[in-house]
Amino acid sequence: MPVWCLRMNAPTPSPAGGDDARFHSYQPRQGHGLPHDPFNAIVGPRPIGWISTQNAAGALNLAPYSFFNAFNYVPPIVGFASIGAKDTLANVQATGEFVWNLATRDLAETMNQTCAAVPPEVDEFTLAGLTPLASSLVAPPRVAESPVGFECRCTQILQLQGADGVQVPTWLVLGEVVAIHIDRAQLKDGIYDTASAGHILRAGGPADYFTVGPEQLFKMYRPR
Ligand SMILES: Cc1cc2nc3c(=O)[nH]c(=O)nc-3n(C[C@H](O)[C@H](O)[C@H](O)COP(=O)(O)O)c2cc1C
Repeated sequence: MPVWCLRMNAPTPSPAGGDDARFHSYQPRQGHGLPHDPFNAIVGPRPIGWISTQNAAGALNLAPYSFFNAFNYVPPIVGFASIGAKDTLANVQATGEFVWNLATRDLAETMNQTCAAVPPEVDEFTLAGLTPLASSLVAPPRVAESPVGFECRCTQILQLQGADGVQVPTWLVLGEVVAIHIDRAQLKDGIYDTASAGHILRAGGPADYFTVGPEQLFKMYRPR
């Protein structure tokens, strides 16, 4: 990146009480002043919402969304953000249903293929060589190759806005998980074994991912 560009993105002075020597401080709306935006790398690694949907005519769609997380326990609610109006958003708006599929290390490259910017009529299950598996309560199928699937009914779709109250072209899609399917191989004495499932997580930059295994596990109980 040329020097002039870095200067244009130069961080504004730290607020009073800041420590300019220690911290690189900036206001995102004025630019980060770094070779790459660090936001995704800091809020990461993130679980991947690998979302299958259908349009009103029943055409299948599958795409990854790493602005994804769980937001409630009872009832379980998950959500993902469509940055721009994408096919998955349109399908949920039309049908009110989606399925979340767990992306694992052995499915990583296949998951990546399903993010291709293809027309709505292109079925990413076929594109990536994946097998649709009928859901029990919702119309969109699960990814048969994935060890975990959540069938979801949309509860809210919120268009996001900035602190200035101006809406941005991003929609947070929230859904109640109405049915859960777990490959029994992932249940060790009835406990879901996160460490052996091979979950993959999205980090920053154009290509960074992480996977988790037993070596990352540590236990810490809440104070009584
Ligand atoms: C790992 C990964 C995570 C992604 N996360 C998001 C995301 O959170 N929000 C988003 O709008 N697009 C995200 N994308 C890009 C979408 O998957 C891509 O735009 C896709 O074509 C959307 O498909 P659709 O139009 O069928 O919904 C991600 C891509 C990858 C590979």
